[in-house]
Amino acid sequence: MSSAHKLITSFLLVLFDLLVATAIVWPAKCPEIVPKQRWDGRAALTVNYTIIPVEYVIVHHTVTNECITTNGCSSVVKSIQNFHMDELDFHDIGYNFLVGGDGKIYEGAGWHKVGAHTRGYNSKSLGLAFIGDFSKKYPPSAQTAAGLKFIECALDAGELRDDYKLLGAKQVSQTVSPGAYLYLQIKGWPNYASSP
Ligand SMILES: *[C@@H]1O[C@H](CO)[C@@H](O)[C@H](O)[C@H]1NC(C)=O
Repeated sequence: MSSAHKLITSFLLVLFDLLVATAIVWPAKCPEIVPKQRWDGRAALTVNYTIIPVEYVIVHHTVTNECITTNGCSSVVKSIQNFHMDELDFHDIGYNFLVGGDGKIYEGAGWHKVGAHTRGYNSKSLGLAFIGDFSKKYPPSAQTAAGLKFIECALDAGELRDDYKLLGAKQVSQTVSPGAYLYLQIKGWPNYASSP
């Protein structure tokens, strides 16, 4: 082989290694996020911002019907927002985001906004609610996978501290949320913390 040949060959090998390395560290593809306007959400009455990256991810379940289509999930999310704003006098839907049984994420109060999901933690956490009641059953696998992927995506986007703590709501408030079955699952997720 001529030296020019050798040079080209080693250049190509380095290039190939770089491509492989890039593919490995490339950020997780985010699940589809359905914006508030798409589910006909109301604007927040007030907005306070969290300082990112936040320290906690707090997982809830909504204790509503489950949903498996975008239309079905949209109407559940809208009724949760109405309940939170009209009956509980919250400034917005309490959760930052919700996870549907259709494998999509529904924007609630949204990124780096203070929600109303866990007293004492709203300004330092991302509140993520799984649509449905998981006290007696596991969520469908598409829903679990979407939730997990969404948390990775939030981490890649710089919304969470590298050493963020993942908690079930029941660890920090008087509730059974996120339900015994979902809680069992999140105990195996990255950064699950046995104490806050
Ligand atoms: C926003 O901050 C103000 C001032 O601290 C407080 O009175 C209000 O309750 C907060 N609203 C929300 C939605 O957190």
